Amino acid sequence: MPETEKKKLFSAVQPSGAVTVGNYIGAIKNFAALQGEYDCIYAVADLHAITVRQEPAALRRNTLELMALFLACGIDPQKCILFVQSHVPAHCELTWVLNTVTYPGELSRMTQFKDKSAKHADNVNMGLMDYPVLMVADILLYQAALVPVGADQKQHLELTRDLAVRFNNRYGETFTVPDAYIPSGSGAKIMSLADPTRKMSKSDENPNAYITMSDDRDTIIRKCKRAVTDSGSEVRVSEEKPGISNLIAIYGAFTGKTAAETEREFEGKGYGDFKIAVGEAVADALAPVQAEKARLLKDKAYLNEIMRQGAENAARLARRTLSKVYRKVGFYRGE
Ligand code: TYM
Repeated sequence: MPETEKKKLFSAVQPSGAVTVGNYIGAIKNFAALQGEYDCIYAVADLHAITVRQEPAALRRNTLELMALFLACGIDPQKCILFVQSHVPAHCELTWVLNTVTYPGELSRMTQFKDKSAKHADNVNMGLMDYPVLMVADILLYQAALVPVGADQKQHLELTRDLAVRFNNRYGETFTVPDAYIPSGSGAKIMSLADPTRKMSKSDENPNAYITMSDDRDTIIRKCKRAVTDSGSEVRVSEEKPGISNLIAIYGAFTGKTAAETEREFEGKGYGDFKIAVGEAVADALAPVQAEKARLLKDKAYLNEIMRQGAENAARLARRTLSKVYRKVGFYRGE
């Protein structure tokens, strides 16, 4: 990727199972959209993924699949840096230094840490607690000004800003203090189809709670038909209608229609018709992405080459920040 004067942007997704339409709407959809305006750096966050138990063969497979999905969603490796996090050692190296300016209390009160600790009570490991610091390192290494994420990552972005400012105050200007880029409205947090008061999550035990990016047409339509909706029959966004409001958000994300346009389109029609329309819109939009992903997965040599080049370019940028950090904290560099 040629280096330009554009501001840098960083984001990542964990290869920890199927990617959902929540991940897509909250984050990945914006990745390609922002690549003209910023110098974008996108990672497959495999170091993050092992904070909960992964089957090694599945992790390897999911890493390749996520790489292919990024490309199929329009991320252009000529314009962006696309790489696998564990291929760039600077992420772990900066995490160590940042650990020394982080307080345990800041990490133990993170909502995601508390939720995951409750969910994986048999595996509350130090990595799970340190997860946000690794995320801070991911972002600060590239001097990113903007980080596109869903609303669930807001707290981690606040920690990123806090640690950047703290380090800069202690050691002198080193890091860019980044802003989160969270979609406005309900796209920032797509809810479970089985319980619209909870976030749609790839780790939900109930597969009907989420639509994955690789679900086939029939599965998508079936899941939409089964989606838990509210009493009444009017297709309208409302706090009393979290189920229908969530489906309106999903429909809007895949058709480009505003909530008002959707409400007008389905005036006088019931939930049943609307749910089928949502399923069809999602399936229509995902079909070309799925076809492209399948094509790319057949060309492993190409994917490996993209990863290799991406890691090389990412490592070059990361090394620059890491050298600055090592100098600032007083590590003897032999000069
Ligand atoms: P991950 O893999 O859990 O999710 C990837 C992205 O999807 C967003 N997201 C959602 N958005 C809307 N509705 C939902 N239901 C929904 N579920 C997930 C997430 O907010 C995220 O943007 N820690 C990150 C990965 C990461 C990262 C980073 C992100 C590692 N290093 C540095 C930004 C910057 C994560 O767990 O994503």
